[in-house]
Amino acid sequence: MILYFSGTGNSRWAARRLAEKLDDELVSINAALKGGASDGGTLDGGASREGAAPAVSSHRPLVFVTPTYAWRMPRVVARWIDATRFEGNRDAYFVLTCGGSVGNAAAYAKRLCVKRGLRFRGLAPVIMPDNYVALYETPDAATCEALMAGAGPQIEKAAALIADDAPLPEPPVDFKARLRSGPVNALFYPALVHDKAFAATDACTSCGACARRCPLGNIALVGGHPVWQGACTHCMACIGGCPTRAIEYGEKTKARRRYCLEDVTGA
Ligand SMILES: Cc1cc2nc3c(=O)[nH]c(=O)nc-3n(C[C@H](O)[C@H](O)[C@H](O)COP(=O)(O)O)c2cc1C
Ligand code: SF4
Ligand code: SF4
Repeated sequence: MILYFSGTGNSRWAARRLAEKLDDELVSINAALKGGASDGGTLDGGASREGAAPAVSSHRPLVFVTPTYAWRMPRVVARWIDATRFEGNRDAYFVLTCGGSVGNAAAYAKRLCVKRGLRFRGLAPVIMPDNYVALYETPDAATCEALMAGAGPQIEKAAALIADDAPLPEPPVDFKARLRSGPVNALFYPALVHDKAFAATDACTSCGACARRCPLGNIALVGGHPVWQGACTHCMACIGGCPTRAIEYGEKTKARRRYCLEDVTGA
């Protein structure tokens, strides 16, 4: 079972390719977090039954595909895995799309697996365009094209190992990577992950796409205009996917390209 979380489409793209290569079902953690339906998988997503943990049942290995946030899987995904009941196959693979480095993310995925009684089978990074427009410049079209061309073979390599029931390679981790995935990650969320700087300009047409795309249901349309509700995970789906480029994050994004590969709420 391929379970993905994605803000701007990279991880969904990677997950779809893995599902094709492995001939496996594709399940949306975005939909589960929002309490809706999955991509067709057998996921009892969200906390749909009162008092019961959401359940996932799969006879095939679990393959989690997510972006990298501050050199680890997104905190919302780690929490979802922690709160979910997994039935059937206990093998867990992780494929993290990233703009350059996953740091020591594998150690934290492994720790979560131990806690949940899953068998950690490794973590593969897949380098793709960096979507973090709130903090950085995003790559230009030519760079994105080159990165996408390079991502395919990385996914195929991971898929081949998963198909063979083999572990993913464990590359050595240096001090900088440990620092980034450890204390820097811990500081990142309280210091930077908030939605106070988001605002919609007069270019907003009240189309509602931002509210629909937000995987956490964190955007309400009030009088036709988006209002951020304070429970943001900085996935960049709203700012990256606004069709009229009406969303800014403070002043700096005014001059920055938006990045969005695909609308992850679409089929
Ligand atoms: C909040 C946030 C934090 C990020 N942190 C990292 C990081 O630590 N390392 C990295 O290489 N890329 C980082 N990125 C880039 C994304 O991981 C990358 O663009 C990913 O492929 C986006 O996936 P998505 O399109 O499925 O949302 C970050 C992006 C965001 C929005
Ligand atoms: S996606 Fe853009 S245009 Fe549509 S409601 Fe949101 S801010 Fe307005
Ligand atoms: S408000 Fe925007 S950046 Fe925050 S979680 Fe929702 S879509 Fe992502």
